[in-house]
Amino acid sequence: MPDQLLTIEDVVRLTGLEESLIRYYESEYPAELPEKILLGGALFFEPASIAFFAAIHARRQGAARGEHNSRERFARVLAITSGKGGVGKTNLALNLAIEFQRLGKMSVVLDADMGLANVHLLAGASPRHSLTDLLAGQVELAELVEAGPEGIGIIAGGSGILAMADSRRQDRYRITQSLVQLEKAAEIILVDTGAGMGRSVRDFLQAADEILFVITPDITSLTDAYGLLKALHQEKLPDLTIHLVVNMVQTLKQAADVSLRFASCAREFLGREIIDAGYILKDATVSQATARRTPYTIYRPDSRVSRNTRAIAANLLKNQPGQTAASSAFGRYLKLIRNGQAQLPQPRRKSA
Ligand SMILES: Nc1ncnc2c1ncn2[C@@H]1O[C@H](COP(=O)(O)OP(=O)(O)O)[C@@H](O)[C@H]1O
Ligand SMILES: [Mg+2]
Repeated sequence: MPDQLLTIEDVVRLTGLEESLIRYYESEYPAELPEKILLGGALFFEPASIAFFAAIHARRQGAARGEHNSRERFARVLAITSGKGGVGKTNLALNLAIEFQRLGKMSVVLDADMGLANVHLLAGASPRHSLTDLLAGQVELAELVEAGPEGIGIIAGGSGILAMADSRRQDRYRITQSLVQLEKAAEIILVDTGAGMGRSVRDFLQAADEILFVITPDITSLTDAYGLLKALHQEKLPDLTIHLVVNMVQTLKQAADVSLRFASCAREFLGREIIDAGYILKDATVSQATARRTPYTIYRPDSRVSRNTRAIAANLLKNQPGQTAASSAFGRYLKLIRNGQAQLPQPRRKSA
């Protein structure tokens, strides 16, 4: 047996907890514990389990003593998505995170766009590690989070996320487990998912607490977004709150018209309510900022697009579904992976 694996006796000795209590915590907190390892017909604990058992025990003791602040808080996980690409998701994810941070909310952008993982490019950050390194056990999640502008965190995407989408259940399990840890550290996690109905997009949409759709006045953007919403609806995605941002509009009236059209289609045909989170004007500030590898809310904080983005951040803070802070989005997802339910039916549409 490799010496880094622990038996139940080791765990008892190292934690100082009784075996019955460890068994109880195992059954009560499956999502928080590292998966056990099967070797020679027996299950072994990973060394990391010790810290998890100790943390759970400390929390339970605190709860038993009535310490209210020992109650866990989890980040709000907002997945940003669209029916087609090029509508401004990445710019919105990054600049929203900056505005949330300015409003005092610790924010992290998770780049989950398999097609074009470019959050770090727009932020002017250069990632040192990817999720692949995490899987290889070379780094901890904390090292993966790059410090971005205004103190936001950035987890660069690319091949690592690709690995998550297609990888073995165990790898996905490990990444998701790390994301649960991230949920305890951050207040808002913005997931830039990429467009369409690809497998990884659906994975992340399933994990999220809320979905933010980005559309533009362009008619194909509207129909593609509606198609995605309908497909999600048919796959019985949990009843997530859905917010809408209309990007690249010429006027306020145009934004209102587009938003109303999307919302009334969703209500009439799918019976789903959409929350209007705001709009962003079409403005050259965005591309000027990109050319400088600076987010526009940093490059021109008082520009119209920055003020629009600030308003969206304020709207999203106002419209927070009540239950999110009390439970872990990725923790729920872990349970789905564990129960083998995380595979949704095959997409009926081609991904964009
Ligand atoms: N409000 C806006 N005004 C003008 N151009 C914009 C605006 N938002 C995004 N863009 C431009 O649209 C393109 C796509 O933006 P991006 O954020 O990469 O979209 P996505 O992530 O949806 O593919 C970029 O060239 C960007 O500069
Ligand atoms: Mg993008």
